[in-house]
Amino acid sequence: PRRVRVHHLREAKERGERLTMLTAYDAPTAQVFDEAGTDVLLVGDSLGDNFYGYSTTVPVTVDQMIHHTRAVTGAVRRALVVADLPFGSYEASPVHAHATAVRLMKEAGAHAVKFEGGRRVAPHVELLTGSGIPVMGHLGFTPQSENVLGGKRVQGRGQEAAEHLTEDALALQEAGAFAVVLEMVPAPLAAQVTEVLTVPTIGIGAGAQCDGQVLVWPDMAGLSDWSPRFAKAFGDLRGALGAAVTAYNAEVRSGAFPADEHSFDN
Ligand code: KIV
Ligand code: NA
Repeated sequence: PRRVRVHHLREAKERGERLTMLTAYDAPTAQVFDEAGTDVLLVGDSLGDNFYGYSTTVPVTVDQMIHHTRAVTGAVRRALVVADLPFGSYEASPVHAHATAVRLMKEAGAHAVKFEGGRRVAPHVELLTGSGIPVMGHLGFTPQSENVLGGKRVQGRGQEAAEHLTEDALALQEAGAFAVVLEMVPAPLAAQVTEVLTVPTIGIGAGAQCDGQVLVWPDMAGLSDWSPRFAKAFGDLRGALGAAVTAYNAEVRSGAFPADEHSFDN
């Protein structure tokens, strides 16, 4: 299959074709998502909650992002692999952002990076894009700033906040971002931003008018024990996995497993 590249995403927007994106944190799931035709795989810092069991993304390190990104890039043939820059690894300066992004590309094979913020990080986006590193923006509810935003709350409600978010989106596009994630943004505002931008918007809790959608994969597959209201479970992996392990435990205890066909002769 032909690799998805950043220009394909913009062309998809021009043709009115919706983009699909999912998080991925390991090789086997990345392979399944890639084979199913998912356009973009995001090695999100949401692996903090969804892989390591932390309560936020704040503790996630660059080394963790490198390990997981390498696992995903090694398993993928078609999808564009985007790696998040974790909290504390880019905010203070464009040069810091560049150094972190270079590690994710050189050591882990990331095709692009994503980081949170609007006008404040536009200089970072400009330096990276100019240095050959494609950047995806992330606006609205930005989990790394949860402590400043006052919890997981919808962002961009009200005229002033909506104007700020639109200005942020335009600044990211102007700085060279190839796409912008909109998280927990009112659907009408997300539709307006999608209309104004020439680069694609990827929504999560941002309504149906974005150019694409992203979900955290355990939410998408019904593996999470809790998911936000904006997520939809398209499967029941938690139920399926629970049933498999219950059957395994029962057969080991009864002696039904292993059978002859799982055993070796002399
Ligand atoms: O880390 C992540 O999973 C994300 C998506 C929710 C966009 O940033
Ligand atoms: Na993230």
